[in-house]
Amino acid sequence: MSRKIRIGALISGGGTNLQAIIDSCESGKINGEMVFVGTDNPSAAGLKRAENHRIPSFVVNYADIIRTVNQQPEQADIPKDFDMDDLLQKQSIFSDKENPEKAKKFLRSRVAAEAELLEKMKGFDFDLIVLAGFLRNLTPYFIDRVNTEEGLPKIMNIHPALLPAFPGKDGYGDTFRYGCKVGGCTVHFIDYGEDSGPIIGQKTFPIEPGDTLDLIKKKGLEKEWELYPVCIQMFAANQLHVDRVTFLTENGKTYQRSIVTIKNILDIGQQSH
Ligand code: GAR
Repeated sequence: MSRKIRIGALISGGGTNLQAIIDSCESGKINGEMVFVGTDNPSAAGLKRAENHRIPSFVVNYADIIRTVNQQPEQADIPKDFDMDDLLQKQSIFSDKENPEKAKKFLRSRVAAEAELLEKMKGFDFDLIVLAGFLRNLTPYFIDRVNTEEGLPKIMNIHPALLPAFPGKDGYGDTFRYGCKVGGCTVHFIDYGEDSGPIIGQKTFPIEPGDTLDLIKKKGLEKEWELYPVCIQMFAANQLHVDRVTFLTENGKTYQRSIVTIKNILDIGQQSH
């Protein structure tokens, strides 16, 4: 049996995905252990789940930090080691690169929060960060300081929709309002865009006539609790590979994308002996 991976989680709310991951670690479904839980929200109910399992936790109060950076910039603790031009160039959350003021304002405050997040995480040795209902976009400042090995992304996210449909804040709501007949959830690695990183796994559920948004959320969450541990275990078993692939499209142009390939079942067998 290979060694357990060390997992850090970031949450913002109730933490039912966090619970599913902790339970899967404890039952052995994931060959891993949860080493910390961090949150941007001091009243995140999921903090109690960490406490129940004696997992260290910490808060980085994003709302306070963002307010200070925007309203009293002279008092803000903005790290020296960030390069705004580099961040502007890399990020793809804001598409309007001609008018970067909005992006700059966003990046400055988020980098201040992320520097504190990285400082708190320093005390923990981790192999993987899982975003489990962490409702903040991460900037290239944070991502580049976690993903230090080429080709080995280390930040996973779960999103409440079948990406690339419905990125953003309200995946199940958008799925419902669009009139979709199938909903789903997606686990992916984080990249510099919003919910745009390479997809690891997806699960679907039917949307029946008369289903309410609440029911769709319930069906979706149940799928999330199944999907996330499976994807994390594939990471733990070293089954996930990310390759930059170039495709030739019908009009003769090329399209490049990072794609996750999952190594075959034989490899899982070899890993577990
Ligand atoms: C989940 O539905 C998750 O997919 C979603 O937040 C919820 C968290 O629930 N995440 C996002 O929307 C990320 N953009 P939980 O706190 O009970 O795990």
